[in-house]
Amino acid sequence: MFDQAQALRNSTLTNDVKIVMVTSGKGGVGKSIVAANTAVLLAKTGKSVLLFDADVGFANSDILLGVTPKNTLKDFLLNKKDLREIIYPTKYGVWLLSSGADVQDIIVFKNESKNRLLGDFLKFAQSMDYIVIDTGASMSYFDELRGMYEVTDNLILVTTCEPTSLMNTYTVAKLMAIRGITPEVHVVVNMVKNVRSARKILERFVMVLERFAGIDVAEQHIMLLDETVKKSVNNQVPLVEYSQRSQPALCIRRIANTILKSEELGTSKVGFVEKIKSMFGIGG
Ligand SMILES: Nc1ncnc2c1ncn2[C@@H]1O[C@H](COP(=O)(O)OP(=O)(O)OP(=O)(O)O)[C@@H](O)[C@H]1O
Ligand SMILES: [Mg+2]
Repeated sequence: MFDQAQALRNSTLTNDVKIVMVTSGKGGVGKSIVAANTAVLLAKTGKSVLLFDADVGFANSDILLGVTPKNTLKDFLLNKKDLREIIYPTKYGVWLLSSGADVQDIIVFKNESKNRLLGDFLKFAQSMDYIVIDTGASMSYFDELRGMYEVTDNLILVTTCEPTSLMNTYTVAKLMAIRGITPEVHVVVNMVKNVRSARKILERFVMVLERFAGIDVAEQHIMLLDETVKKSVNNQVPLVEYSQRSQPALCIRRIANTILKSEELGTSKVGFVEKIKSMFGIGG
């Protein structure tokens, strides 16, 4: 486990931890695959990475990383567990934290528990380079997640070519833009069967995002529907380990590389403590 004593010796709480958030308008489009594998690739370059599974969906990050956390953030907030008991190491160098509840539940937890969380989590997060957040389809509770969006450095929007998926993803992006939130945005069109038509859809989608939501898309990605993705899930091995040369794995590699490059370009707009507070919806 991480060395809390060492963290305590660091008198000033500063760290330019980067927040990478993976979201979509619709469920089941590949968010967890993208989040877990991005986290693994970032960790492979020697970065310290926490994957925060803020989803209660089906194929969760823990399954994707071959770990089954018994304890979750909810246990911590209910005063049942310490932070060191809810953050799990994985063999891929990624630390894993599962919310164990809907994000809405976490947001409404009482301040007392959250202040305890803040104190302990800040010490832990001091040693992290990246926090990758895997959310549920967040259109319907955007405002509850607003704090997370506000401190996101890199946002990965995952959609399929389906009109409803595109529409809901657009809504999330628009809500973000209206609130003046401007992370670096990646758009991933996943489960693509026909590259040519997907490319057209993606181009139009990016144009709509730019023109009607005022969002600059940093990078666009097409991820093919590929059986190896399902096989990697069934084998509980991250895709980027299971089949490094598969198209979806190469696509996620490109995303991770861009994230690493954007880190070199500058520091976050928000300070470390503010970032962590905002992430957990802690006011004041
Ligand atoms: N490119 C792909 N090719 C084939 N199967 C895929 C691909 N991407 C995702 N899948 C499959 O789709 C399923 C859903 O993926 P995933 O769990 O990542 O979606 P999600 O958006 O996180 O879902 P939820 O909203 O429920 O959290 C998984 O079982 C996965 O194997
Ligand atoms: Mg998921």
